[in-house]
Amino acid sequence: MRIAIFGMGYVGAVSAACLARDGHEVVGVDIDPHKLDLLRRGHSPIVEEGIQELTAQVVQAGRLTVTDDVSEAIRRSEVSFIILREKPRPSGRGGIAHRAQHDHAALVASSCVGLGCKA
Ligand SMILES: NC(=O)c1ccc[n+]([C@@H]2O[C@H](COP(=O)([O-])OP(=O)(O)OC[C@H]3O[C@@H](n4cnc5c(N)ncnc54)[C@H](O)[C@@H]3O)[C@@H](O)[C@H]2O)c1
Repeated sequence: MRIAIFGMGYVGAVSAACLARDGHEVVGVDIDPHKLDLLRRGHSPIVEEGIQELTAQVVQAGRLTVTDDVSEAIRRSEVSFIILREKPRPSGRGGIAHRAQHDHAALVASSCVGLGCKA
């Protein structure tokens, strides 16, 4: 399955690496250019047992890629996982959850999402 994960933090980076290990094609999205640069080079931005080796493997295999482009990530995936700490916009409109829900059959959130989003 083609999966987008928004937020390459403690939960997102581990989820991305594990889903890619299990054969899924994962695109990770973050607003932090340092985290994206680390991941592009096959390094995990977080410290967790085994995560460095796993991240290196799945990046090298081409199953985990990253971008800061929300539209590209949504276009390239069938399902989005939103794993942020961001506060939702009051209406939900224009936020990641709202945009992803528009294009996907499935949206999974471990985050705050705006009113009206069916996560
Ligand atoms: N860490 C835990 O043990 C844990 C456990 C259960 C649930 N959660 C929940 O999971 C969610 C994520 O937690 P975490 O610990 O992984 O957070 P984190 O702060 O480690 O990671 C969040 C990431 O999201 C990125 N980000 C922020 N705004 C963004 C945006 N607009 N687009 C793309 N990326 C963006 C940040 O740069 C950061 O890398 C939270 O809702 C938290 O409550 C966390």
